Amino acid sequence: MSSRRKILATSALPYANGPIHLGHMLEYIQTDIWVRFQRAQGHQAYFIWADDTHGTPIMLHAQKRGIRPEQLIAEMDAEHQRDFQDFGLSYDNFGSTHSASNQHMVELIWSRLDAGGYIEKRTIEQFFDTDRNMFLPDRFIKGTCPKCKTPDQYGDSCENCGATYSPTDLIGPQSAVSGTAPVLKDSEHYFFKLGEFTEMLQEWINTAGLQHEVRNKLQEWFADGLQSWDISRDAPYFGFVIPGTTDKYFYVWLDAPVGYMASFADFCARNPELDFESWWQPDSDAELYHFIGKDIVYFHALFWPAILRGANFRTPNAVFAHGFLTVNGAKMSKSRGTFIMARTYLDHLHPDYLRYYFAARLGSGLGDIDLNLDDFLQRVNSDLVGKLVNIASRCAGFIHKLNNGKLSPELPEKKMYQSFLQQQPAIAEAFEQRNFQFAMRQIMSLADQANQYLAEREPWKLAKQEGQQSTAIAVCTQGINLFRVLITWLAPVIPATAASAGTFLNCPIATWGDLQQPLLEHQIEPFHPLLKRIENAQLEAVLKASAESLSTEQQSAAKHSESSAEQVISIDDFKKIELRVARIIAASHVEGADKLLQLTLDIGDQQRNVFAGIKSSYDPGQLVDRLTVMVANLQPHKMRFGLSEGMVLAAAGPQGGPYLLSPDSGAQPGDRVT
Ligand code: 2FM
Ligand code: ZN
Repeated sequence: MSSRRKILATSALPYANGPIHLGHMLEYIQTDIWVRFQRAQGHQAYFIWADDTHGTPIMLHAQKRGIRPEQLIAEMDAEHQRDFQDFGLSYDNFGSTHSASNQHMVELIWSRLDAGGYIEKRTIEQFFDTDRNMFLPDRFIKGTCPKCKTPDQYGDSCENCGATYSPTDLIGPQSAVSGTAPVLKDSEHYFFKLGEFTEMLQEWINTAGLQHEVRNKLQEWFADGLQSWDISRDAPYFGFVIPGTTDKYFYVWLDAPVGYMASFADFCARNPELDFESWWQPDSDAELYHFIGKDIVYFHALFWPAILRGANFRTPNAVFAHGFLTVNGAKMSKSRGTFIMARTYLDHLHPDYLRYYFAARLGSGLGDIDLNLDDFLQRVNSDLVGKLVNIASRCAGFIHKLNNGKLSPELPEKKMYQSFLQQQPAIAEAFEQRNFQFAMRQIMSLADQANQYLAEREPWKLAKQEGQQSTAIAVCTQGINLFRVLITWLAPVIPATAASAGTFLNCPIATWGDLQQPLLEHQIEPFHPLLKRIENAQLEAVLKASAESLSTEQQSAAKHSESSAEQVISIDDFKKIELRVARIIAASHVEGADKLLQLTLDIGDQQRNVFAGIKSSYDPGQLVDRLTVMVANLQPHKMRFGLSEGMVLAAAGPQGGPYLLSPDSGAQPGDRVT
């Protein structure tokens, strides 16, 4: 048995500026699975975390609501933590970057960096809003892109052509805070001399366990030369005042990662047996890992290790970056209802479903992860309900009926049990490497084997046969023990289900080492279904609630940005869509549906049943016999009212609609639309 490792892992700190969505959850679930896995190996592993509370957006958000930033961050803290707990995240401490411990730590680091000669002062020219009396961060300046001339672009980059520039390059710059034209003004700023750490960082990059994509990106940045980093901001700002000044603040990105340390210090204060120093001193034997999105690698793999080294603390063993979440193959979209908040999901669905689905999709790389809702439903129902839970539900009843809930004294297939356990090192290694996808595949293929064993031995038949009942009990004991192996490996992924399984097995699911001892002559509890199937209606409810949660203003903004900017499909993608002329041969109302009509369509060689959201514009009688256009190769979609086998095309706009599209006369049902 390997020795007990000391492991500290973090997720990126969410901004205390808004609710948590499923894009955030991808990272938090990834971190949580990994930490739970480490604990299940018997290691001393902590998940340390906090809210990221400082900066201009939070200050302005609070001002807009007429409250103090402290009140906003207190509300956000409560809201965030409620989401996290309901998703089963097992963090050990949740701190705040606006805490005394963080201020203390930031000031300590600052004084060490300053004493080491790593800070320089420089005067810079910046846009200043004379109406609000404040310097403007790049994101709060808007104007016309100097390159492509698109209006209404941010001060750092253009959403239309992708150009990056400095705010002073914008044509006609305006303050997004007051709408007035800003002026340029001098201000003294403090810089961290990152360049002095070039050699140290080169070495760190080669020794830290970084993903090759991250290492390559870092090499590019080295090639460009490391610039000093501006770590100060002028008043007014919500943050910590820089010691020795009255109107200069630490930039939020300086005190945010320090929040990892401060949150751990808070945790140590609650657990006096833990010694903060031994986890953070330069020669610490503890391991430190940061889970982050690929967009914040620069902060975590350059600034942060350099600051830690400059302040005489240990550096991270690795940063683990992941890709972004897409939903149904596209960027999360408010108007499509796929911008799903954590709370909206939790209102309708069990957290373990999403935890499992993310695990089934996550590898150790930086690729984006797609939450395809049809695949989500199908995979969760088939793997978790159809395969995993099924093993227990097929066996439990017979153990109770034939043996009062007691397992047999021996396993009938010891070799098979051992062959399952032989997979444990490979599965553990996959978890260790964050290749959860591989681990899930292995576990599900063993679940197939367990089901196959039961299908072959047919305990339900044995149970009815004279003299075969002890065999039935033994077969089911085998099944229950195989189930216990699988659920123990899956416990980091689906902790709530594993906890219910522990109650059913009358034996908590704990470390993987426990599996060396199968459960024999052991009393189990009555079986209650551990997890239900996902119903399509639940997914529809999530999409509906997500779309409805937008204000009218947000809806039109979302529509505007999506219709103008999303030129994402290629001509080849478009060619995949098969459009055909269809004749409506029957149309009727759908009971219980507010917006739908049921159409029967003739497309030449076949007929299709389609539910179309056109009830507000048409009476069914008007439609019979008219021609329209349909998407003929859309995957059939199960709705509450039946199967919809395609889609008809209709136009809609702010003035009204939907208006069904029709071909000119002469077109025939079945004709291709090109
Ligand atoms: O990008 C973000 O959402 C930041 N709030 C992450 C901070 S991570 C760490 F540095 F605190
Ligand atoms: Zn542009």
